[in-house]
Amino acid sequence: MSTAAARAAAARVAGLREQLARHDHRYYVLDDPEVPDSEYDRLMRELRELEAAHPELLSADSPTQRVSGAPNAEFDEVRHGVPMLSLDNAFADTDVVEFDRRVRERLGTEAEVEYCAEPKLDGLAVSVRYERGVYVRAATRGDGTVGEDVSANVRTIRAIPLRLTGAAPEAIEIRGEVYMPFAAFRRLNTEAAAAGEKLFVNPRNAAAGALRQLDPAVTAKRSLAVYFYASGEWRGGAEPDTQQELLAQFNAWGLRTNPETRVVAGVAGCLEYYHSLAARRETLKYQIDGVVYKVNRRADQEALGQVSRAPRWAVAHKFPADEALTTLRDVEFQVGRTGVLTPVARLEPVMVGGATVTNATLHNMDEIERKDLRIGDTVVIRRAGDVIPELVRSLPERRPPGARSIELPAACPVCGSAVVREEGEAAARCSGGFVCAAQRKEALRHFASRRALDIEGMGEKLIDQLVERAMIATPADLYDLKLEPLAALDRMGEKSAANVLAALERSKRTTLPRFLHALGIRDVGEATAAALAAHFGTFAALRAASPGQILEVQDVGPVIAAHLHAFFAAPANWEIIERLLAAGLNWPEGPPAVRAVGALDGVTVVLTGTLASMTREQAGAALQALGAKLGASVSKRTDYVVAGAEAGSKLKRAVELGIPVLDESGLEQLLRGERPAA
Ligand code: IVH
Repeated sequence: MSTAAARAAAARVAGLREQLARHDHRYYVLDDPEVPDSEYDRLMRELRELEAAHPELLSADSPTQRVSGAPNAEFDEVRHGVPMLSLDNAFADTDVVEFDRRVRERLGTEAEVEYCAEPKLDGLAVSVRYERGVYVRAATRGDGTVGEDVSANVRTIRAIPLRLTGAAPEAIEIRGEVYMPFAAFRRLNTEAAAAGEKLFVNPRNAAAGALRQLDPAVTAKRSLAVYFYASGEWRGGAEPDTQQELLAQFNAWGLRTNPETRVVAGVAGCLEYYHSLAARRETLKYQIDGVVYKVNRRADQEALGQVSRAPRWAVAHKFPADEALTTLRDVEFQVGRTGVLTPVARLEPVMVGGATVTNATLHNMDEIERKDLRIGDTVVIRRAGDVIPELVRSLPERRPPGARSIELPAACPVCGSAVVREEGEAAARCSGGFVCAAQRKEALRHFASRRALDIEGMGEKLIDQLVERAMIATPADLYDLKLEPLAALDRMGEKSAANVLAALERSKRTTLPRFLHALGIRDVGEATAAALAAHFGTFAALRAASPGQILEVQDVGPVIAAHLHAFFAAPANWEIIERLLAAGLNWPEGPPAVRAVGALDGVTVVLTGTLASMTREQAGAALQALGAKLGASVSKRTDYVVAGAEAGSKLKRAVELGIPVLDESGLEQLLRGERPAA
């Protein structure tokens, strides 16, 4: 080998060791991993391969030569009677075939080997020591030889007996996994969110945090659970012959073992177990990241022995990672049907949870800021089941020098209209309205809806077809529709087409509030439309109004005034309005209200029945805005009863007491600040 190649390998080995040491520190000491397990596994695998190819580079301080993690200074140290081992990983089925081949080769057998197959829990390994059947100590794995004394905390786990049932050895270390079930994890995070605290990244982290509490009372509240799967030091009494019998003995002592455990035959049995558990993974109440195969006969285990930190008789077959690292290539903005701009992350394609991921939604600009994202960043992608991939966070420590910050575009990527983002609002929107192809269908649906122009038969499906066939783009085009092309559409025919045309014709006679509402101006709902119509009286007066004059309308603040101003300032909107008026849209117009604010001071109104032009709540709000009081029941002090369709006892009572009863045109008068005679 050339010296240049050897130097490159040595440099890479040193680099990998440094990275792994840093990740070990973050993961084991700080409980705050910087990279997903899959990335750590990848680095470890690369280091192992390099060390195998260059044995001269092997050294005792390599992370491959020891189990990692240093004891937390706040806990006492515990020396394990027998070291706590780790496991080698298998990723592909062929890795398992290889493992089984090596096992049979070393055991010198052609026959199928019996394996004990168990779920690989994603928690924390602990060793619990019992002396003459009494719980004396619990320790974390630490570096495999020396761990941390977490006796007080582990004692709080209810699943762990303080005294073993039946005859017990003089001393025994029992190893298992402490974990947090999903339900407890979700509860904990809900509480943390309510308290404004930092959320836990995953159940493993939450369990680690709980176990490392200095106050056992806090640990006790965290609903930790445990499954036992191995023994360490064993003094006195006969040891079981197989892993299966070991687990049965644990159960007999009152220790929890995983009920999904199975004894399987040969590599075929292992793989069948793996795939069937993988398919049911989502139904388990706790997180697993793979399965573990263990040679069942313990005499065989002993014969096989171990290599540095891991036994030769067991292997962890990992599930495909559901988190992975990749590069954020770009952020593009999609325009939704209501005009909201949603940033979408374009990613360097990466395999996550068995599928290739190239995009992830980012929700809004606040999230981009919160996650401190730049284009070029290394990011963590997570995918759980079928859900949309999520960009979990960036790794700013890996940010390349040229990383670009992400800006909200000034112009809509679909129509080029201005993009607006109101103060205090997370969403940014295209101001294009009808002009924007992305918003067209939604704007048309709103225009035709029951509480707007109420065009019967002009439903979502019909609008979709009309837009997709470019037969309409704006509401003005609706009134140019002709019978034949309409009748030729899917699910239409002559009769339906004629009905739709008749409904369009009927919709031309409307009210000013309905028309204003139908235009879909941002934040101009029914109540605001009613207030505007009442204040200005005529459409001409409204369109001529300055922003300052619009601000005089009760309940119209600067935001709505700005929306109205922007809408009427756009020539494209004017063209649509002119065409609608030319098509014959019309409404009764009244004189403008002389004074709106306080116009109904001291007037008590009772609303009853169903109103056609707005809901009772909207009418109530608009009346209150003018100073009126709303009455819950009709009495002598009631000034007006506004009765909609199907009004009942209140209407009857009003008639009995001789209180003026108004219909909807009377309500419109009230909303103009007038005091109609009954
Ligand atoms: S056996 C001698 N069985 O995985 C072998 N480990 O990556 C000792 N783990 O440190 C481990 N479920 O924390 C074993 N059913 C299982 C396991 C399991 C989870 C963890 C354990 C171990 C790590 C190795």
